[in-house]
Amino acid sequence: MGRVTVLVAGIDAAGRPAHPALAEALAGAGLVVGAARHLAAVPVPAGCATVVLGPLAPALDRLAAAVAAGTPAVVLASGDPGFFGIVRRLRAAGLPVRVLPAVSSVAAAFARAGLPWDGAAVVTAHGRDPRPALNACRALPAVAVLTAPGAGAAELGAGLAGWDRRLVVAEHLGTPDERVTWTTPAGAAATSWADPHVVLSLAPETAPGAPRADDQPAAAPAGGWALPESAYAHRDSMITKAEVRALAVARLRPRLGRFVWDVGAGSGSVGIECALLGAAVLAVERDPDAPIRANAARHGVDVRVVTGTAPAALAGLPDPDAVFVGGGGVDVLAAVADRRPPRVVATLAALDRVAPAVHLLRAAGYAVDGCQLAAARLADLPGGSLRLAATNPVVLLTAELP
Ligand SMILES: C[S@@+](CC[C@H](N)C(=O)[O-])C[C@H]1O[C@@H](n2cnc3c(N)ncnc32)[C@H](O)[C@@H]1O
Repeated sequence: MGRVTVLVAGIDAAGRPAHPALAEALAGAGLVVGAARHLAAVPVPAGCATVVLGPLAPALDRLAAAVAAGTPAVVLASGDPGFFGIVRRLRAAGLPVRVLPAVSSVAAAFARAGLPWDGAAVVTAHGRDPRPALNACRALPAVAVLTAPGAGAAELGAGLAGWDRRLVVAEHLGTPDERVTWTTPAGAAATSWADPHVVLSLAPETAPGAPRADDQPAAAPAGGWALPESAYAHRDSMITKAEVRALAVARLRPRLGRFVWDVGAGSGSVGIECALLGAAVLAVERDPDAPIRANAARHGVDVRVVTGTAPAALAGLPDPDAVFVGGGGVDVLAAVADRRPPRVVATLAALDRVAPAVHLLRAAGYAVDGCQLAAARLADLPGGSLRLAATNPVVLLTAELP
């Protein structure tokens, strides 16, 4: 006789009848596990043992016992149980499973909104720190978020204040209580939403246009980074040179789910390269004519620009994971350190600022290292010879909270 497997069946978020094999499996089941709303939605035979989720650990123990005893067991879950769902936990517990998937809540939400979703990122705020999900919404044009109570549409809406987004909130999909609402971040923040719900976060131009093909979370930028200064509109001294930018961007550790401030952004090149690597980015620049938006558009990334002078302009901005300070004095670094970002990277051209900056960051509890960088670039001489052309040296500091 083959080993007994646990049948994991999805309850369809698109409102279709359950898979035909489910009724047969339920009829012969000795144990059925699922959320109360799922147990109520299917014909569980009288006398069959049930475990209501809630907490998973007791259910896993009961399932393991059922498998050991050869008792047929069924687990009910939402949507596609293999997609951000219970199959991962059942496998991790060593349980053998067979899956009958249904339509995922994410697919159903995009369908209800009448939008394509092949280029969307899907992230979850369920049972984990919700900030990476929020930062994915800030960084990418089309994101679906699986939510949890306390980390749902209202909280995402509050965190997206200042970003240009439309939100679609899809509650109770596939049930008589289904409600699909188009709203703004402020509208979402001011509303209380029913669980379960999914949130679609859409940059205006992507609703309902085609998403970019290269916005998958793990995709490195096709054109690379540490790009030459010619890849950005800039005024001469107002751009971090490519060789310095390479190290600064590496030290900021940008990736999808993280949030980077680029303070004294100038051309925006450092922030834009962080955005190309998946981070959510906010650029602070006092010059209203700085070409940050045009440069971001040229590179196909979303950078939020705050026009103002640091440190005053930093007040009230959402907390970052990393900050690049390319312009501004020691007072800017002090204000940044007050916000306790895990990482700060600064470039300093004026030597008299170096020691105060290091002392200030160390006094704030950061481990600081630094180096001087000066690239000498190849340049052509008449007659086919080559020479080295010096670029201005700068000191690059990296500060990290232990
Ligand atoms: C653990 S995930 C499960 C996702 C599931 N595997 C799927 O494919 O839809 C739970 C989250 O899915 C979303 N969800 C599941 N069922 C839903 C429904 N009927 N309507 C709206 N959202 C739903 C909610 O964001 C919920 O917090």
